[in-house]
Amino acid sequence: MIRTALVVAMLAFGATALVAQSDPIAARKALMKANGDQSKVATDMLEAKQPFNLDAAKKVFATFAEAGEKAPVLFPDNSKTGGDTAALPTIWEDKADFTARLAKFASEAKAAGAATKDFDSFKVQITEVRKNCGGCHQTYRKKTS
Ligand code: HEC
Repeated sequence: MIRTALVVAMLAFGATALVAQSDPIAARKALMKANGDQSKVATDMLEAKQPFNLDAAKKVFATFAEAGEKAPVLFPDNSKTGGDTAALPTIWEDKADFTARLAKFASEAKAAGAATKDFDSFKVQITEVRKNCGGCHQTYRKKTS
C-alpha cells in the first residue's frame, strides 16, 4: 500500500514537472488563472455575493502562495514568446526584480493566510496582498484590454 502510494505520488510529481518543463507558458498561465478565480471568490465574499467562510478565505491565500512559489521556474529564456503569452520582455530584462516580486507575493500571501481569523481581518489582508497583482501586471504583463 505504502509503496503504491509512493509510486503514485512520484508519478504525479513527475507529470507536473514534465508539463512545467515542456510547456512552461501553459503551466504559468494555469497558475495565474487559479489566482484570478480565487481573487473572484475573495471579491464575492467582500461584496457579500457569497457568505464569508474562513476555509474559503484561507484557500484564496494558499492558492496565491502556491502560485508565487511555483511560478519562478516557469519563465525560462525559451518561453519569451509563443503559446499566446501575455508576458512582457521586461521580465527577462530584469529577472531579479520579477523573481523577487513573486517571492514577496508568496510570503505575503502566506502571512495573510495566517493572519486571517474572521471577515474583518480578511478584508485587511486581501486588500494588502492584492496590491501585488496589479503592481506586477503593470510592469510585466501585456495590457489585455
Ligand atoms: C510577480 C508578478 C505577478 C504577480 C505578483 C501576479 N501576476 Fe498575474 N500574471 C503575471 C504574468 C507575467 C502574467 C502573464 C503570463 C503569460 O501569459 O505567460 C500573468 C497573468 C495573469 C492572468 C491571466 C491568466 C491567463 O489565463 O492567461 C490572471 C487572471 C492573473 N495573472 C491574475 C493574477 C492575480 C489575481 C494576482 C494576485 C492575486 C496575480 N496575477 C499576481 C505576473 C504576476
